[in-house]
Amino acid sequence: MGEPKTNRVECHLRQGVADDAFGILEVHRGSILRLGSLAYSEAECLSWAFGLHAKQYVQAMKALGETYWVAEMNGFICGFCSYLGNEVKGLYVHADVARMGIGTRLLEKAETEIFALGHDKIDLTAALSAKGFYRKHGYSSVQEKSWESRGGLEMTVLQMRKPRTIG
Ligand SMILES: CC(C)(COP(=O)(O)OP(=O)(O)OC[C@H]1O[C@@H](n2cnc3c(N)ncnc32)[C@H](O)[C@@H]1OP(=O)(O)O)[C@@H](O)C(=O)NCCC(=O)NCCS
Repeated sequence: MGEPKTNRVECHLRQGVADDAFGILEVHRGSILRLGSLAYSEAECLSWAFGLHAKQYVQAMKALGETYWVAEMNGFICGFCSYLGNEVKGLYVHADVARMGIGTRLLEKAETEIFALGHDKIDLTAALSAKGFYRKHGYSSVQEKSWESRGGLEMTVLQMRKPRTIG
């Protein structure tokens, strides 16, 4: 048996609820500003993070039926993933714990549930900062497109897709 990877951390995954909205907001905003900058300008990141509000997650959960999974470490939310139907809507990890396998665990949880619901493919719109991550997880690029971020700046994003594999 090989040595365990030293950069992996202990965290607990559970379904997100309305009371998690502020914790989710903190991760969402911080992750955009610190990790989004790997692929976008400061102005683009500010526009991407603009206007985020805790009530939008509550609305997504309750009115739209979006499913949230959160990763928790020492009682704090350090990442989240949400999906609706066959679409992964959001996946964000706190910059302090990036590249420690948390994004992978959250994505795998969402993928398992989406495929268990009977969908034969997963769609998502990826930020360019996450392209390498999604490629590693079997997603292919469908098309690059322009997205008007919340603050009004146009940003280049990537439509990506992963088919269900048989077996
Ligand atoms: C993309 C994101 C969710 C990945 O989460 P994470 O917990 O850091 O990812 P993991 O540790 O599970 O990474 C697994 C593998 O994916 C790949 N990967 C992850 N981040 C990567 C990056 N920035 N560039 C290239 N490959 C990357 C690596 O192969 C990595 O394995 P390794 O660290 O052993 O090399 C996280 O970086 C993030 O929140 N980014 C900012 C916001 C964002 O772009 N979200 C997606 C919006 S659509």
